[in-house]
Amino acid sequence: MKIGIIIHSMTGNTSLVAERIKNRLENEGHELSLERLAIIGGEDQNQSDPQKISIEPLSTNIEELDLLILGGPVRGFQASPAMKAFLGGIDKLGGKDTMIFVTHAFPFNWMGGNSAIKQMRNICTEKGANIIFTGIIDWKNSKREIQIDSLAAGVARKATKAAS
Ligand SMILES: Cc1cc2nc3c(=O)[nH]c(=O)nc-3n(C[C@H](O)[C@H](O)[C@H](O)COP(=O)(O)O)c2cc1C
Repeated sequence: MKIGIIIHSMTGNTSLVAERIKNRLENEGHELSLERLAIIGGEDQNQSDPQKISIEPLSTNIEELDLLILGGPVRGFQASPAMKAFLGGIDKLGGKDTMIFVTHAFPFNWMGGNSAIKQMRNICTEKGANIIFTGIIDWKNSKREIQIDSLAAGVARKATKAAS
């Protein structure tokens, strides 16, 4: 299956999780690409308005993917503005199997993780995506490594199911 992972990551946490997912899926025989959103003019972490953020054109051709995986950090209890800017600029995701994950710092999912997932899910669903998996990594949790392994395993299970 052709799988594209597209992430926003400023300090590298989401990127690390994406690499783990990528390795896992590659080991299971899938064809993977991983792309990190590049913000034109660099990232201003105080900019919370997605309308004021422009993303460099992607190398990934989303239409060609069998499965799209989106990841980003939580920002101010919401999805990251850069990810929202990117998703807002997508024309359509008609029927595309899509997975979403976020990383965040606070110890409880209700401190941003759940609402960020909900926002990303809503934007993707409006564009016609078929959301088949979501996950949250709590960066400061002592069981973070187990969480990441379990997220990657969940993604792999759903990808195998989607391929069959
Ligand atoms: C401006 C800003 C706002 C943040 N807001 C939240 C938040 O509301 N809830 C939370 O749990 N973490 C918050 N964080 C922490 C990040 O979500 C967390 O460190 C994440 O893993 C960073 O991912 P990255 O390294 O891929 O950029 C915030 C970080 C920044 C820089």
